[in-house]
Amino acid sequence: MSDCQWPAFEPYKTKMVEKIPLTTPSQRRAAAERAKYNLFLLRANEVTIDLLTDSGTAAMSDQQWSRIMVGDESYAGAESFHRFDKVVREITGMEHVLPCHQGRAAENLLFSAMLKPGDIVLNNTHFDTTEANVVTKGGRPVNLPCGEALDPLSDAPFKGNMDVARLDCTLADNPGRVALVMMTVTNNSVGGQPVSMANIRDASAVCKEHKVPFFLDCARYAENCWFIQRREPGYLKKSLTAIAHEMFGYADGALMSAKKDAFVNIGGFLAMRDAELRTRVAVQMVVVEGYVTYGGLAGRDLEAIAQGLREGLDEDYMTGRIRQVALLHRRLTELGVPCLNPAGGHAVFLDARRMVPGVPQSQFPGHAVAVELYLEGGVRGCEIGSVMFAHPDSVTGEMTYPALELVRLAIPRRVYSDNHMEHVARTCAAVTARADRIAGMRFIYEPPRLKHFLAHFDRVK
Ligand code: F0G
Repeated sequence: MSDCQWPAFEPYKTKMVEKIPLTTPSQRRAAAERAKYNLFLLRANEVTIDLLTDSGTAAMSDQQWSRIMVGDESYAGAESFHRFDKVVREITGMEHVLPCHQGRAAENLLFSAMLKPGDIVLNNTHFDTTEANVVTKGGRPVNLPCGEALDPLSDAPFKGNMDVARLDCTLADNPGRVALVMMTVTNNSVGGQPVSMANIRDASAVCKEHKVPFFLDCARYAENCWFIQRREPGYLKKSLTAIAHEMFGYADGALMSAKKDAFVNIGGFLAMRDAELRTRVAVQMVVVEGYVTYGGLAGRDLEAIAQGLREGLDEDYMTGRIRQVALLHRRLTELGVPCLNPAGGHAVFLDARRMVPGVPQSQFPGHAVAVELYLEGGVRGCEIGSVMFAHPDSVTGEMTYPALELVRLAIPRRVYSDNHMEHVARTCAAVTARADRIAGMRFIYEPPRLKHFLAHFDRVK
């Protein structure tokens, strides 16, 4: 597969190391029980390979660490802000840039400024915090994924796309009620799948026609650019930077969790073209996040983001990054572990329904698999299925379940080697081999929202 081509090794070398915790099966059993079978409640030193998230878990480069030393910590007007601002403006072409401490802070600020109760927000697929931030402002989040997104076996190249025909109908049916449309690149909630440039262009044109602002949730935009370069006709000779320019050119604004494609442990931003919107966000920002030139971050964090944003568009890095994710996907497929196809940009997603067909959705097959991966090999992944998304229908009260039951194995950037990926693949294969003996799970404590973070579970006997 072209995604696995040269260089066939990690395109970086190690300058500093961190010991990996090794545990015995009985230690893991005790840890899982103590954590009430919620992998978020484990201590990190109980986890051997941590694939819970690719967010804030990257290894920063020597260049990023060196920029940290020159951080300007002035309260207002810091040089670090101006360096950060310049890089974000160069990449996005957007004039107004506001730093935020992470992606969800940007979501909170943007939706506070743009939503009134009852407003609709459309997205190819909302990430969970994005959805929660719309709901807490009284808004109604609606997902418009393309048809292929819901078929785990489809090898379509751009399964992250939005259904633009439905976008057009929804905008036509709800005049004045849609506050904004957002495109999440790559589309995390349907498997880290990319969105094509054609889809971004078409969605943007439809929004323009209906006079509704079009924003990007660009946490993993650089990975998305790589897929456009390799998979979309006409882009192979264009640089990732040129592709990013074109992509942002279609949008009125963007929000980014810099904890992904900018390799930082904390940080994010909002960027937009509309000066009046910027003013409204800024007023709220100084109350809840920080002054407009630091936004809840230190000057050194802004330096690390500015450097990281540049490194994220490095083609050698990105080719190695996508190669490693594709390598894990290929090994899992060879070992007979059911996966969502094709490999995503930041993660491989196990298809838990096919992996443990005996566990009904009401007993959280994805979560059951995630717990077994931990017990088997100390690998921590994350359920993206019914624990996260099942909810009672607002009219009938009946439980509605998501189409997919996935376990996400998110790969931190520049952290693990191919040998680590081999351990992960073998762990998944061992769990698949004893799938018929895996029990479902049930809540013993169920929080009202974002349940996966805080819930307690037990096995269904
Ligand atoms: N948007 C997307 C597409 C995301 O994946 C995330 C975070 C956010 C927004 C929120 O950003 O965490 O900086 O506040 N995703 C992480 C994940 C948590 O594990 O996928 P944040």
